[in-house]
Amino acid sequence: MIKPASLEQAPLLAVLHAESFGEAAWSHEQIHGSLALDTTKGWLAYSGDKPVGFILLQTMPEQAEILTFCVAPSYQRQKIGEKLLQHAIAATRNNGCKKIFLEVAADNLAACKLYEKSGFRLIGKRPNYYKHGDKPVDACIYELLIS
Ligand SMILES: CC(C)(COP(=O)(O)OP(=O)(O)OC[C@H]1O[C@@H](n2cnc3c(N)ncnc32)[C@H](O)[C@@H]1OP(=O)(O)O)[C@@H](O)C(=O)NCCC(=O)NCCS
Repeated sequence: MIKPASLEQAPLLAVLHAESFGEAAWSHEQIHGSLALDTTKGWLAYSGDKPVGFILLQTMPEQAEILTFCVAPSYQRQKIGEKLLQHAIAATRNNGCKKIFLEVAADNLAACKLYEKSGFRLIGKRPNYYKHGDKPVDACIYELLIS
């Protein structure tokens, strides 16, 4: 089941983010600050009653950007991420947006594969945008046309 995420759920989202992203996770304040904006839309995925993943998008009149997206490690590879992404794409389309962008580390193969499987195409790279330990990693910029 997928439901809209509310501002009151920011602490829960922060826990899920920490489980999925480890040291790179957003703080509760960052998640709360993002969710508090009118332009941010979020959805939570549930396994039974248990929240197990979420996605946040920034929506503008013509386009949207995926701000962050995760599924708790013990619930990964069960198509939950794919369903959450499809739900967000459908809602964004219904809002009149024509494009969705996102940025992802080039070495995040799970996410890159999911985005490509969902129709996103690679439109650019930001060289050495992230640092994983001492290692510089490019950012991949993906776009999905949804008009
Ligand atoms: C990326 C993420 C959200 C995927 O969620 P998920 O629920 O495990 O993904 P799904 O089970 O829906 O997988 C759908 C497709 O994604 C791809 N995929 C997902 N995980 C993968 C993995 N570990 N290796 C290779 N491909 C993978 C596959 O194409 C898969 O389709 P398939 O099962 O038919 O092969 C999850 O791995 C995650 O939370 N990662 C940590 C946080 C993160 O990197 N977020 C994205 C930042 S932009």
